[in-house]
Amino acid sequence: MGFPVIRPRRLRRTEALRAFVREASLTPGDLVMPLFVLPGKKVRRAIGSMPGQFQLSVDEAVREAKEAAAVGVPAVILFGLPEAKDARASGAWAKDGIVQQATRAIKEAQPSLLVLTDVCLCEYTDHGHCGLVEGDQIVNDPTLEVLAQTAVSQAEAGADVVAPSDMMDGRVAAIRKALDAAGKADVAILSYAVKYASAFYGPFREAAESTPKFGDRRTHQMDPGNAREALREVFLDLGEGADMVLVKPALPYLDVLRRVRDAVHVPVGAYHVSGEYAMIEAAAKNGWIDRDRVILESLVAIRRAGADFILTYHAKDAARLLARA
Ligand code: PBG
Repeated sequence: MGFPVIRPRRLRRTEALRAFVREASLTPGDLVMPLFVLPGKKVRRAIGSMPGQFQLSVDEAVREAKEAAAVGVPAVILFGLPEAKDARASGAWAKDGIVQQATRAIKEAQPSLLVLTDVCLCEYTDHGHCGLVEGDQIVNDPTLEVLAQTAVSQAEAGADVVAPSDMMDGRVAAIRKALDAAGKADVAILSYAVKYASAFYGPFREAAESTPKFGDRRTHQMDPGNAREALREVFLDLGEGADMVLVKPALPYLDVLRRVRDAVHVPVGAYHVSGEYAMIEAAAKNGWIDRDRVILESLVAIRRAGADFILTYHAKDAARLLARA
């Protein structure tokens, strides 16, 4: 049977009907707001390549976190800009490191808001690499201990979820073991299991001041041509004890997101990254796209592809737009 009996337009006639039969939903509860935290007080330093985003001192990050919670965003993920960087990334695992301070302050001010912490060394090493460096090599196994130490210190500061984004082999197992040994068996691991070596991270590296001084991240992050390998990474991390997995970036990798969603039964997130944000903001500023509609369409597309939750710099704005709709 077909036309004229069948008319798909019948179900598109009004917004009420369209909403009634919509397959993918998008609510503020699906979103996670990333925050960049730096030392100081009352600091709100604009990030040039991410208009509308700021490097924030702890007090300002608390304010931002409260605002996110007020519009229904359930979680933030914290990135740190330490006072000083060194070869051992000591700012990453210091008891009073910047992320640890921010975690404590946000959990105190807004206990119901989930705090996720990014576990990686690139913001804390003087060379800007995600792991320890010997000669011109990023060395895997010695890095694991430092990552584990970082995760434990974040958990001790009150993080609900630690999120390793370094892409070293074996880091989920190392982190799980260290958390359990530290009495933090209840702290969950969100693994950036599928993280591509992507040019879409450009603005983030300005925001987090984490551009590598030499070389690139291609020996640990995934090659953009690979999708089967994404499943291999996901199964390895789940085998090591990851509670949730992340695919990153989002829009250029929706096929990968769908494959991961279909392959596993744990929650799957997607990271709508800095370059994706910057492209929307830049085009909107030029009047070339309708910013608000492009934001919501992008996020619902990521949900449709299978993301249970989305890390996005648009979290707060999107939540406000959804409240208005
Ligand atoms: C840290 C990290 C990066 C991002 C999240 N965690 C940067 C990188 O790998 O260079 C990128 C996030 C974004 O672009 O929004 N390793």
